[in-house]
Amino acid sequence: MKIAVVGATGLVGSKMLQVLEEYGLTDIELLPAASARSVGKEIDFAGRKHKVVSVEDAIAARPDYAIFSAGGGTSLQYAPLFAEKDCTVVDNSSAWRMYPEVPLVVPEINIDVVKDSDRIIANPNCSTIQMVMALYPIHKAYGIKRLVIATYQSVSGSGIKGLTQMEYEEKGEESPLRAYPHPIHHNVLPHGGDFDEQGYTTEETKLLNETRKILRDNEIQVTSTVVRVPVSGGHSEAVNVETRKSFELQDVRRLLGEMPGVVVTDDPSQNLYPMPIYAYDKNEVFVGRIRRDFSVENGLNLWVVADNIRKGAATNAVQIVVELIKRRKH
Ligand code: A2P
Repeated sequence: MKIAVVGATGLVGSKMLQVLEEYGLTDIELLPAASARSVGKEIDFAGRKHKVVSVEDAIAARPDYAIFSAGGGTSLQYAPLFAEKDCTVVDNSSAWRMYPEVPLVVPEINIDVVKDSDRIIANPNCSTIQMVMALYPIHKAYGIKRLVIATYQSVSGSGIKGLTQMEYEEKGEESPLRAYPHPIHHNVLPHGGDFDEQGYTTEETKLLNETRKILRDNEIQVTSTVVRVPVSGGHSEAVNVETRKSFELQDVRRLLGEMPGVVVTDDPSQNLYPMPIYAYDKNEVFVGRIRRDFSVENGLNLWVVADNIRKGAATNAVQIVVELIKRRKH
């Protein structure tokens, strides 16, 4: 089994290598690929040193799977070239997500949409993944009518640039890399991605489109405000849900508790609720502050936290590969 990781030197790519090891995929032939400036560098995987190769060399080696986290442009350019060689690409960028023929997958929810012939599979946006993990059992049981979301997204979602800008600002120094048009240290930015003509950001539009695609329901109404906060790792989300059918709160708690990959952390009497410092470096999605919204007929409030580099990116992508390897063995 040959697996290429394109963007292996980046924040998400290096986490992908770690998650591959954790999932026991250590006896693979790994092809770590990155930009020309990293070719020849050595990285550690499964106790051995591996030389970083160019994307072209990774394609020529004909891997079985290629996991991409190297930006949308790299994915658009190279994913079809891997696919032509019968390699299955799992792409973490937003480049392919909304193509109708490209499956957009959270394995716990919809791995069944992947056909054996599919060669490009998209990994959803980090904020979408953690939110739909919590919403899926609720949608199945009661049908979701409308979502009102506010996110509190960490700087690691902007890659090494975001982390570096915050670290330098904390020290009171000029950062060599900048991810944001304003300081992030001691600040909160209501701005994720680029603005459109209607005043929404690309990150907000992803939450709408990707949620509908993954939950397979174009009737779900979604409105959101994406906010960047000075947290180094872990995204949090306040999610207000309006369901079509009525629910009992204890059933919602039970359904969330039964959802694979979701951990309910919800005991206000003990000040217990999900927080990024506890979600950090974990693969699960944490849900708390589960309570009825009394302002509408079938309203529910949730607080959802996950490590955006793990379940929001690397873990989800590796889980897709693991599921496909299992399926194709049978
Ligand atoms: P490199 O380290 O050589 O720049 P991050 O999001 O943390 O900044 O990581 C981006 C990843 O994508 C890095 O591994 C980076 O490699 C890789 N990358 C960026 N541009 C390209 C490109 N044109 N071709 C291949 N890999 C790229």
